[in-house]
Amino acid sequence: MISRNVTVVGLQWGDEGKGKIVDALSDVCDYVARFCGGANAGHSVVIGDQKFALHLIPCGVFRPRVVNVIGNGVAFDPTVAVKELTALQGRGVEVGPGNLAISAAANVVMPYHKQQDSLSEASLGDGKIGTTSRGIGPCYGDKANRSTAIRVADLIDPDVLAPKIRTVAAIKNKIFAALYNAAPMDVEAIVAEYVELGRRIKPHVTNTGTMLRKAIAAGKRVLFEGGQGSLLDVDHGTFPFVTSSSVTSCGVPTGSGVSPADVGQVVGLIKAYSTRVGGGPFPTEQDNAIGNTIRERGREYGTTTGRPRRCGWFDAVAVRYTADLSGVAELSLSLLDVLSGLDEVKIAVRYRRGGAVVEDFDAASMDGVEPEYETLPGWSQDITACRRFEDLPPMARAYVDRVEQLVGRPVGFISVGPERTQTIHHHTKIEGLR
Ligand code: GDP
Ligand code: IMO
Ligand code: MG
Repeated sequence: MISRNVTVVGLQWGDEGKGKIVDALSDVCDYVARFCGGANAGHSVVIGDQKFALHLIPCGVFRPRVVNVIGNGVAFDPTVAVKELTALQGRGVEVGPGNLAISAAANVVMPYHKQQDSLSEASLGDGKIGTTSRGIGPCYGDKANRSTAIRVADLIDPDVLAPKIRTVAAIKNKIFAALYNAAPMDVEAIVAEYVELGRRIKPHVTNTGTMLRKAIAAGKRVLFEGGQGSLLDVDHGTFPFVTSSSVTSCGVPTGSGVSPADVGQVVGLIKAYSTRVGGGPFPTEQDNAIGNTIRERGREYGTTTGRPRRCGWFDAVAVRYTADLSGVAELSLSLLDVLSGLDEVKIAVRYRRGGAVVEDFDAASMDGVEPEYETLPGWSQDITACRRFEDLPPMARAYVDRVEQLVGRPVGFISVGPERTQTIHHHTKIEGLR
């Protein structure tokens, strides 16, 4: 049987508008599951005049009948989760054990992970990765190391948690003192705080892999909510300027506990231009007036850190690569409205190095690549009220058509504004949409 599930992944460097489309698609799904990353993600959902920025809780939370799942592949920061839960409840969004499940096998982000993230970045100087300082790399590092990892199952059992924290913190204190001359942390304060956090989240904790497999077997539809963007993937991104998890659709089975056959229809998120936060290669970057215009019009400042995002033209070479990596069936093109008012718009159609054409995108060999652009005429109209493809000005339609041709995938959705309803259903094949 062909899976009815849907996977949403970012095809650039994150912040492609995943939150908005996940909220929209969750209307026709039963479960929404995060499988990668952690509170480094910042996913925005705008409903009417209410804006929500979610870091850990899946964006299906605004649909009362949806069960939201934080999968085993997530770097779970209980301080962020509890804060987010409380804030949502305070704004009238119902979140409880009935609609939010947290994997017992997820790895816990501890205060020393965040400390290590910041200390390590500071020590790297100009060579820093530009992380979100959310402790993501150190948490996944401990996961790979195993003996120093703390999982959610440990977090909710004080008898296991307290001795584990004491043992691991003693190791970290030695390392931080030796490497960074850091003062020792107050271990008992961490024990007390995390025992309390464990108590708060315990009602949500379960084996989410079993839960999802049973749900799928019973005919339920799952939406997998990607974090970050494929060019930040730990294996396939622009290493070392990447995050520390598998963020393509390949991360869905390991990060959630379902079979690869249940990844379903993959929707690849792209914004109509490119942005990147933090360091690393960005061939189409416009560190100039155009980049500044895009940043101001698109309000391109980080949802998690508030940092200004680096901005540039759409890169069809990079997106062809990431669409292939994830087996993307259709694209969702967002922030098209931000390009309104530009005299011309550009798309990178190939790279060259020293004059020679570079055939394939190679994330490990980006030095010296120069994008070659195709220039298209711009459009001046405000498109934020358009709800059908035919309503868009001809030049905006031509731009969408060209992206479709260059990436070799149909554009299923076009987003023309941050609000939930500012979406055009174009060539989507996702069943059941209203
Ligand atoms: P995510 O991490 O992929 O969920 O994306 P972010 O939420 O970090 O960043 C996307 C930003 O663009 C958010 O502020 C959204 O509210 C906003 N946004 C999403 N789609 C559109 C759109 O089509 N047009 C405009 N102008 N803003 C959008
Ligand atoms: P969403 O889900 C944009 C970037 C950081 C940094 C690199 C490593 O909102 O699209 P990390 O803290 O993960 O160790 O940082 O990855 N990064 C993101 N950039 N959007 C994100 O998430 C990101 N998550 C991580 O800026 O360059
Ligand atoms: Mg974001």
